[in-house]
Amino acid sequence: MLTLLKRDAEAIARLQKLRFYPLAVVGGDGCYLIGEDGRRLLDFSASWGAVSLGHSHPAIREAASRALESQAGASILSFINEPAVELAEKLLELTPGDSDRRVWLGHSGSDANETAARAVTAATGRPRIISFEGAYHGGTSGSMAISGHSAQEGVEKAPGLVSLPYPDPYRPHEGDPTGRSVIALLERRLSEDVEPGKVAALFLEPIQSDGGLIVTPAGFLKELADLCRSDILMVCDEVKVGLGRSGLMHCFQHEGTPTN
Ligand SMILES: Cc1ncc(COP(=O)(O)O)c(C=O)c1O
Repeated sequence: MLTLLKRDAEAIARLQKLRFYPLAVVGGDGCYLIGEDGRRLLDFSASWGAVSLGHSHPAIREAASRALESQAGASILSFINEPAVELAEKLLELTPGDSDRRVWLGHSGSDANETAARAVTAATGRPRIISFEGAYHGGTSGSMAISGHSAQEGVEKAPGLVSLPYPDPYRPHEGDPTGRSVIALLERRLSEDVEPGKVAALFLEPIQSDGGLIVTPAGFLKELADLCRSDILMVCDEVKVGLGRSGLMHCFQHEGTPTN
């Protein structure tokens, strides 16, 4: 009988692997993973945040089976799908702001960021995007093009992408742990070589996740939002830190970031 490790090596492409240890899992139960050898292992990463409510949570199992009992089609493309509309209504309810908003339902975080980048450039007619060094916005061509993660260094970037240092209090830009030097750098660039009228949006992880789990210094998010407010859209990528995981429903709410 082949072990899972060997079967995995023979069946799944290396391109899809970021392995740190030879862990082979056959199941999950709450905060535990169940190894092929029967061990119950505490999953401290919550499988990279994808199972923040635990593995096989009864409420999620119940919701998934309910959805499968009477499936309202497989998409929203050509007819109205009640569960999809309900989800969109719920998301609008959960998200502060009273502007004219709609939900776009995609497949993944990568897909969401890629689409957001296309939407902001199309809606504003401006070609440039600002993002941060170390940012991971996804693994599709369009989301990698606006990311700054070191694992994607060889990837073609969006034309005119402006990359800012993330305000890391432990490895501070210009020795300034307050993040003000990053704000000053952005102000300088907007007045010198980056024409604000050409910038569609700034993409931000309110806590930089795959780039090092970096929490911004107090006041940074607010200062950044104030700077963008007049002219530049701000897109918060909360794939890893949203929906309650930072203690508030949305991570951007920690500094009362404006939403309109
Ligand atoms: C901040 C952030 N954005 C986007 C993504 C991409 O999400 P997905 O893997 O669902 O495409 C990730 C995934 O780790 C992420 O951490």
